[in-house]
Amino acid sequence: MKTFLQEVSLGLSKKNKKLSSKWFYDFYGSKLFEQITRLEEYYPTRTERKILKDNKTEIANEIGKSAVLIEPGAGDIKKIAIFLSSLDKPKKYIPLDISEDYITKLSQGFKKKFPKLAITPKGYDFSKNNKLPFKINSSENIIIFFPGSTLGNFEKKDAVKFLKMLKSKFKAKKIIIGVDLVKDIPTLISAYDDKKGITAKFNKNILQRINTELGGDINLNSYKHLAIYNKPKKRIEMRLKSKKNNNIKINGSKYLIKRNEEIHTENSHKYTIRSFKNLTGEAGWRIKKTWVDDKKLFSVHCLHLDKLG
Ligand code: TRP
Repeated sequence: MKTFLQEVSLGLSKKNKKLSSKWFYDFYGSKLFEQITRLEEYYPTRTERKILKDNKTEIANEIGKSAVLIEPGAGDIKKIAIFLSSLDKPKKYIPLDISEDYITKLSQGFKKKFPKLAITPKGYDFSKNNKLPFKINSSENIIIFFPGSTLGNFEKKDAVKFLKMLKSKFKAKKIIIGVDLVKDIPTLISAYDDKKGITAKFNKNILQRINTELGGDINLNSYKHLAIYNKPKKRIEMRLKSKKNNNIKINGSKYLIKRNEEIHTENSHKYTIRSFKNLTGEAGWRIKKTWVDDKKLFSVHCLHLDKLG
């Protein structure tokens, strides 16, 4: 498994430079992301929350009794609370996040709010094929909760792989998943390039981490945050554009980032209901139910195992 340093040096040595977005999320990055979710321009979080709230009884019916709820990439774990009290005797809640500090800290507040529910937070990087940090009992009603359009951050083939893995490894029976929808381009772009510059800070946090954790000497001011809509691929791409020729040094190795060169950091794919249906079908899942908001900005789905899959 590659370390942060190995991934960074590989990513910066490529012709098309890239850094993986999973490195956004240290404690500070997770906090910045939390700020993003409250931005005026960032419609996904509030829209998804409203969908969950308006349909919590139906969602609870789909989830059923004695659920073991697993949330990969749980982040600030606020969303599950929206429908938790509507559920029929949930058994366990397992929030997973790449930032173990962050998830453990947040779970403490959660325990106070829902004292009856067993909650066991774990640090887990689902982008690696790691052994699960807990035991799975496949006879249980295992429900994956995957909100925030996080699936959109995967390349299509990885999204299919991930959905298959939820079946094979997590033994999931159903998935409740949030997916951002294709819409007009200005709305999409401003969600990823806000006026206050929080998303820019979030994007640059990757460079900050290279400096603090890998002894890099990158000047953050020499890069500009870019959010571009790739229309054929229906995705927002986040990049960091070098304002000048930048010679940087990381852990003794030198790299040249040329003027106007871009480092790709993140994709956020947008789906239509139809394209999402095709994707889930490829992975052996079937859409049982879909909920959307009035403006059709965002969608939440309940997926069932496809009998054939
Ligand atoms: N999955 C969300 C989205 O694509 C959250 C997210 C991931 C995000 N990386 C991001 C939001 C970078 C803003 C910037 O919207």
